[in-house]
Amino acid sequence: MFIDDLPTPALIIDAGALEANLATMAQAWPGNRLRPHVKAHKCSALAKVQQRFGHSGFTCATPREISGLAKAGIEADFLLANESVDPARLGAIAGTGATVAVDSDETVHAAARAGIKNVLIDVFVGLPRCGVEPDDAARLADLARSLRMNVRGVMGYEGHLMMVADATAKRDQVSAAMDTLRGCAEKVGGDVISAGGTGTWREHLDTGITELQAGSYALMDTQYATLGFPFRQAVHVVGTVISRAAGWAVADVGLKALGMDHGNPEVDGYDVWFCSDEHVTFAVKRDPNAHGAPTFLPKVGERVLVAPAHVDPTMSQHERAWVHRDGLVVDEWAIDLRGW
Ligand SMILES: Cc1ncc(COP(=O)(O)O)c(C=O)c1O
Repeated sequence: MFIDDLPTPALIIDAGALEANLATMAQAWPGNRLRPHVKAHKCSALAKVQQRFGHSGFTCATPREISGLAKAGIEADFLLANESVDPARLGAIAGTGATVAVDSDETVHAAARAGIKNVLIDVFVGLPRCGVEPDDAARLADLARSLRMNVRGVMGYEGHLMMVADATAKRDQVSAAMDTLRGCAEKVGGDVISAGGTGTWREHLDTGITELQAGSYALMDTQYATLGFPFRQAVHVVGTVISRAAGWAVADVGLKALGMDHGNPEVDGYDVWFCSDEHVTFAVKRDPNAHGAPTFLPKVGERVLVAPAHVDPTMSQHERAWVHRDGLVVDEWAIDLRGW
């Protein structure tokens, strides 16, 4: 079967691009220096490929990602890099030996009650989301130890810095955020300093963290593509043109087949006007410098490749991914870690 034979919209993964991305990152961040974030793909089959590239731990955003990986037969050093006070969900992952991020007395007590043995103190490093105030990190670590949990170290996610365009500003801001995190690590104890993502993979080569939590690098999206990293677009949604007018065409890849929080997707060679539930409307490029871009719209029935602006929520919209090599479908992977 070829990707042109798939019923659309269909999520496809280019195996060659994926492998090239995994190899590039594994060279810079080998073995347990990288803790790939599975929320970016939510697919245990893809996680197994990442294991083959040498990574022995995974970062997860939901308990279900951890229990799903375990159910798929993956034994690894799991990190729930997110807060939870849900005893049932925490209890369900306790048997995997997972390490859980905590940032409050409530999350520490919930982890202890659920039988979690290992925690990381999640520190606020500038992103107004999770993370304890740096001054309170050591006290929280003591509380966790008093409840007989092992404090493995600290994590801090500087998500607000991923897309900083100016290289010097980015390096300085990431470095300042990690000064805070390293300062906490000294007071908290343990040997893990976990941080970062695809957007800061280069800066962290010099920040002294022990592991990088990157996820999007594997499949990529058009937002990260603007940063000029050596990672290729490995995931697309294939669509079929279902309508055409004089000035535009419409394919069957709408916002229900895409993550739209980072804006419109790209349709190879065309200008995207907008997405609605089940449609993407696009036109011939107006930019006169767009050399090589098609000057004709595709016909009804022809296929187009749609590149998502944000990979994570795109993956979670699909039940399966079709893996291909040069258009030939070679595998079908369940997106089995969806949900919470
Ligand atoms: C806790 C945490 N770590 C790491 C990442 C990095 O992911 P990515 O490589 O996709 O930017 C994220 C993304 O949101 C995150 O929430």
